[in-house]
Amino acid sequence: MSANSTNTSAPVRKAVIPVAGRGTRFLPATKAMPKEMLPVVDKPAVEYVVEEVSGAGITDVLLVTGRGKGAIEDHFDHTRELETALERKGDTEKLEAVKRSTNLAHIHFVRQGEPKGLGHAVLQGKDHVAGEPFAVLLGDDLIDARDPLLTDMIAVRERLGGSVVALLEVDPAQINLYGAAAVEGVEATGIGSLGEGDVVRVTELVEKPPVDEAPSNLAVIGRYVLDPAVFGVLENTAPGRGGEIQLTDALQTLAGMDPAEGGGVYGVVFRGRRYDTGDKLDYLKAVVQLACDREDLGPDFGAWLGEYVARRRVELGSDPDAAGRAAEPVPGTPSAR
Ligand code: G1P
Repeated sequence: MSANSTNTSAPVRKAVIPVAGRGTRFLPATKAMPKEMLPVVDKPAVEYVVEEVSGAGITDVLLVTGRGKGAIEDHFDHTRELETALERKGDTEKLEAVKRSTNLAHIHFVRQGEPKGLGHAVLQGKDHVAGEPFAVLLGDDLIDARDPLLTDMIAVRERLGGSVVALLEVDPAQINLYGAAAVEGVEATGIGSLGEGDVVRVTELVEKPPVDEAPSNLAVIGRYVLDPAVFGVLENTAPGRGGEIQLTDALQTLAGMDPAEGGGVYGVVFRGRRYDTGDKLDYLKAVVQLACDREDLGPDFGAWLGEYVARRRVELGSDPDAAGRAAEPVPGTPSAR
């Protein structure tokens, strides 16, 4: 075993979350505010991601930040004045809400300096990760708290070693927006909540291939469990697509490396609930779905939404039958505005 080789039985205790991206897809909202702080119902998107990490038993989180991201640091810090004011008012519910983000994990920060790509952002975590396997989560993808994707990926790493990516079957016409994977079957049963065919070996990865050159329609989504050998590989990875150092390119190298050197890449095919908050349309869909699922908001919001959709159909003339339904108020709900 070389100096680079790793102990596959080491537990996954750390997570790296890159948050340095500029958020140009949400301008002007992100002119003075990090995109990761956009509220999804009533919590910033990045808090969902840290909750997911914490839910998978990881308590050490490194956020890779950049210029203009100070609000994220403040969000995970204590706000003594606010906490004292809420305590005095006896508003325990809001007090808990304010303290939650601070107590989720030990949060550390490092700056990326220059925006040289996702691979470069992950590389900034090298000293903090200190030779252990670690998780990487991208904030544009939210995974429903009821679906234990990260926990399952950690279980795959602990059973098979190497690195693990989350894969999602997407419309083949959309694969050019993602890292795309070629895979083959692997013998793996009884890992976490995973069933037959959910674990695969990744044989090839290509960052954002043209649709007609993609190896499959299996897209890499923003969850990774990485062997620390990835750092040595990233240090030697030349800029790829978009002139940036791509994590996908480093994983392609790892896929061809000897397991004794930290090589090997597995995929977990995710079949659960994912909310994409990366662009405006998907962000709106995520907010609506998560609001409908909330105990406190869901019943009223869902009822209003049903009325609104029915009314809109009538207005647009797409469903004449909806006229009657829209006219009838839904029992026990506030009237639609
Ligand atoms: C990044 C990765 C890409 C992956 C995607 C998942 O791209 O480079 O391989 O499929 O995240 O969200 P980005 O969306 O940051 O351009």
